[in-house]
Amino acid sequence: MNIGILTGGGDCPGLNAVIRAIVYKGIRQYKYNIYGIFEGWRGLLEGGPIAPVTLEDVIPIINLGGTILKTSRTNPFKHKKGIERIKKTIEKYRLDAIIAIGGEDTLGVAAKLHKEGIKVVGIPKTIDNDVDGTDQTFGFDTAVNIATEAIDRLRSTAEAHNRVFLVEVMGRHAGWIALHSGIAGGAHMILVPEYPIDVDQVVSRIVKRHARGEEYSMIIVAEGARLKKGSGKSDYILLEPEKDEFGHVRLGGIAYILAKIIEEKTGYECRNAILGHIQRGGTPTAFDRVLSTRYGIHAIDLVHQGKFGKMVALKGTKITGVPLIQAMKRIKTIDKNFYKVAEVFFG
Ligand code: F6P
Repeated sequence: MNIGILTGGGDCPGLNAVIRAIVYKGIRQYKYNIYGIFEGWRGLLEGGPIAPVTLEDVIPIINLGGTILKTSRTNPFKHKKGIERIKKTIEKYRLDAIIAIGGEDTLGVAAKLHKEGIKVVGIPKTIDNDVDGTDQTFGFDTAVNIATEAIDRLRSTAEAHNRVFLVEVMGRHAGWIALHSGIAGGAHMILVPEYPIDVDQVVSRIVKRHARGEEYSMIIVAEGARLKKGSGKSDYILLEPEKDEFGHVRLGGIAYILAKIIEEKTGYECRNAILGHIQRGGTPTAFDRVLSTRYGIHAIDLVHQGKFGKMVALKGTKITGVPLIQAMKRIKTIDKNFYKVAEVFFG
C-alpha cells in the first residue's frame, strides 16, 4: 500500500515526531510505502512535490520543531477544480490513503474529502488546542511551557518597576494557552476570546491591587480576545486585514492596545509583550513528543484497519478514533468551570 502524509496549517512542535511514528510503524510493521506530500494540501493540489519518506529520513527528528514536509494554509476548495486536481494527484502517485495532520482548517478539508470518497485519516495538531473531539492537540503543551517561562521572566521585571504587564499569547478562537500559562504563571488576570474584555473591571481590579500595596500586575491576554461592546473598540485587533484561504485575518496587538488604555485610565506605567511565533517554534516538550508518537501510531493502525474518515483523539489517557465529521462541527472553547479556577486568583 502507498500512504501519503501531509502537514497543513500553522506548524507546531511535535509534527516531526508524528511523521516519524507513522513512518516507523508503516514501513517496519505493515511494509507500506510512505510518501511525503509537501506543503500541505498545496502538494496534492499542484501535483507535488511528493516523495518517498524513508526510515533514515526520520531517525533523527523526534526532537525537531517545524515539519520536514513543510506546510501551507492552502484550501483546495478555494481553487478551481480543486477536488478533481487532488484526485488526479492521488491517482498519479497511486496513493491508497492520506494521513492529514492539522488543525480545524486542514482537518475540515480532510472531512470534506472523505465525503468525496478519498480515504483519509486525520491527526489533530495546533498550539491553540481548539480542535473538538480530543482532550488535547499536540503542540499545545510546548506552547504553554514556553508562555509560562516567558511570564515568569516578565514578572520579575514588572515587579521591579511596579508596572502593569500585558502578555499576549496565541489563541484565535479559544483561550487555552492563556488559561493554562496564566494559571501556571500566577497571573492576576486572564483575558480570553470566550469572554469579551470589560475594561472597567480590569482597571478596577488593578487599582484595588495597588491600594493593597501590590503595585505590579501580570495580565495574560489571548490574541483573539476582544473588548466588550461599548468600550469604543469591539472588534479583533488586526495586524493585517487580509484574510487567508480559510477566511482568517492576522491577529496581534490587543496587549498593546490594552496597555495604552490601562495606562491612560490609571496613570500606572504599563508595558506589553507579544510572544507570537516563539510559542510555535523549537523543540517539543516530552509530553508532546509522546502524544505525537501515540497519535502517529494510532493513525497508521486506523489506515491498516481500513477505518477511514476518522481522527485520532486523546480521551482521558487512551488514544482512540472519532469521526472527523463529528470533530469538525465546532471549535473546542474553554470550559467555564476551568476559567473559574483561574478567577480565584484575579485582582
Ligand atoms: O496555528 C494557530 C495559530 O498559531 C494561531 O494561534 C495564530 O493566530 C495563527 O496560527 C498565526 O498564523 P500564521 O503563522 O499564519 O501567522
